[in-house]
Amino acid sequence: MLEVAGLTTKYGSISALRDVSLSVREGEVVGLIGPNGAGKTTLLGSIAGLLEPTSGSVHLDGKEVTGAAPDQMLRAGVALVPEHRRIFADLTVVENLKIGGVTTGAAERNASVEEMVDLFPVLGEKLSTPAGYLSGGEAQQLAIARALMSKPRLLMMDEPSLGLAPILVDVVFKLIDKLRAEGRTLLVVEQNATRMLQVADRAYVLRSGQVAASGPGPELLAGADLFDTFVSG
Ligand SMILES: Nc1ncnc2c1ncn2[C@@H]1O[C@H](COP(=O)(O)OP(=O)(O)O)[C@@H](O)[C@H]1O
Ligand SMILES: [Mg+2]
Repeated sequence: MLEVAGLTTKYGSISALRDVSLSVREGEVVGLIGPNGAGKTTLLGSIAGLLEPTSGSVHLDGKEVTGAAPDQMLRAGVALVPEHRRIFADLTVVENLKIGGVTTGAAERNASVEEMVDLFPVLGEKLSTPAGYLSGGEAQQLAIARALMSKPRLLMMDEPSLGLAPILVDVVFKLIDKLRAEGRTLLVVEQNATRMLQVADRAYVLRSGQVAASGPGPELLAGADLFDTFVSG
């Protein structure tokens, strides 16, 4: 479904990504792990249209979408749950959800809200609560639900468990498992490498802007020089 080939993205003269290739097939849960500053956020941003790659290509279902704008990518079926969630604190939960569904019609949007309430019961109880009052775990669920409102074919999440208490980290990983069971296609950046490799079909290890390793999650876990990857950066 998603094919990234030889992608290079720079900030000024500094390459944050160098010749990165990655693929995600329909129904797969793919993990993206690596130390801070490895280029994980830059990679998701380059796919979602937030950053323009200087070379390489992004194809979606065989169609080239390199450098497409974020709204074009959203309409093409790629949604991103950004780092630090970025929900609208002053808007209610249901208003935040509806913003996520701007690409769909009103009837479909209302149906999607119902679907999100089924998937995230805790949000259903707080539809008219301003999002600023939600706990960290609830806010993360809202950020994910909002991204799902656009009915993405590919959902990308950037560090969904970051800053959450351990029990809420469990909630996030259970959710990833649930979305996988529904057959959704996910590309997930996680600092929590061990947990991610346990739920991912495949994963890529990014290091200094390059793919340092890739393969099935369990295989990477077993063979892992994860210690090396993270400790010696
Ligand atoms: N807006 C920016 N301007 C300049 N350099 C940046 C910017 N964002 C990230 N970088 C640099 O690009 C590299 C990759 O960053 P990032 O993609 O955020 O890594 P990760 O998400 O893996 O922690 C880092 O060296 C970081 O300092
Ligand atoms: Mg990041």
